[in-house]
Amino acid sequence: MLNAIEIAPKVWWVGGLDWNERQFHGYTTERGITYNAYLIMDEKVTLIDTAKATFTDEFVQRISQVVDPAKIDVVVTNHVEMDHSGSLPKIHELAPSATIYASAPAGVNEIRAHYGIEVEGVKTGDSLSIGERTLHFVQTPMVHWPDNMVTWCPEDGILFSNDAFGQHFATSKRFDDENDLAEVMKQAKKYYANIVWPYGAQVQKAMGALAGLDIKMIAPSHGVIWRSNIPAILEKYQAWSTYQTEDKAVVVFDSMWHSTELMAREICDAFIKEGVTAQLIDLKHTHISDIMLYMCDARYVAVGSPTLNSNMMPTVASFLTYMRGLSPNNSQRIGIAFGSYGWAPLGPKQVEQAMQDAKFEMPVPVITQQWIPGEEKLTEIQDTVKKIIEDTRA
Ligand code: FEO
Repeated sequence: MLNAIEIAPKVWWVGGLDWNERQFHGYTTERGITYNAYLIMDEKVTLIDTAKATFTDEFVQRISQVVDPAKIDVVVTNHVEMDHSGSLPKIHELAPSATIYASAPAGVNEIRAHYGIEVEGVKTGDSLSIGERTLHFVQTPMVHWPDNMVTWCPEDGILFSNDAFGQHFATSKRFDDENDLAEVMKQAKKYYANIVWPYGAQVQKAMGALAGLDIKMIAPSHGVIWRSNIPAILEKYQAWSTYQTEDKAVVVFDSMWHSTELMAREICDAFIKEGVTAQLIDLKHTHISDIMLYMCDARYVAVGSPTLNSNMMPTVASFLTYMRGLSPNNSQRIGIAFGSYGWAPLGPKQVEQAMQDAKFEMPVPVITQQWIPGEEKLTEIQDTVKKIIEDTRA
């Protein structure tokens, strides 16, 4: 029988630990995933969220450590995506009298569509007394689906934030201060960049709605619970959701016979020489979701491809397509397109077009080289990057 963990008096973590899951929506989850759900033992036994369907047994075992699941009175579904609602039909079967709440109208409609279960709708400003506690609902649409909401419990000072503030990180310790904070922050940033990044405006709106709350604990539905580093993660969400950049560069490329690689190394070295923190990324060896981690707060993004069969290389196209889907606001980000070619610079030009479409500020035309760049060209590249940095800093 798997154990529940009491995270505050009469509030229990009853989630699932997916230690070996290595991808979520095409994003590499090298530290696994957790599906956090919380059980509140008040006059009305209340469950906040459920777990992925394949974790139903684990989830029900943990609940059963605390209470007979048949005694659940209230289920709050903060988000209908199946990593949080997959076990809802089982809970509905075990506790058929329990009232299920979801945001209205999106959450209500999504639960009906996924499971054919009718539920009560709630909106921002609605609250529900469960005994000694009152749960307050705040809708946070598009963080990360239209139905998302968070649940605030002022008596405990716990914000049940669902996807917001989460990390894909399976760990035996439930709190931020029990884990390596650098790893927690890295996973929170990777999660934000790959899941939440398209919705900066909505995150800003949600943070506005939560401002002023005396939050003692942020209990997300993925990863560790924030209790000692709440100001730090709020500060990061403020920065990420407003697309703030730092003096960092990522240089992303693929190469066939090392000409584009030579250009990439020269660009990267120019950034380093000027004191910019730089990361050189060969697409043959780095997953696109890891690139988003580096790109999240980078002021400079250089992307290079040679021409392969009249196109940019498929690895580069994959990265650019994935990046565009995440719709980062690139207006404060400097883009540089580059690449080599044998007889037609079509690949580098496609990169330039894709970066223009993604709304990067492109201070110089695509940098191209037929065949192999010589010393003169490499010096010219260094000078070009130096000038871009100087103009950006001016
Ligand atoms: Fe963790 Fe949008 O689901």
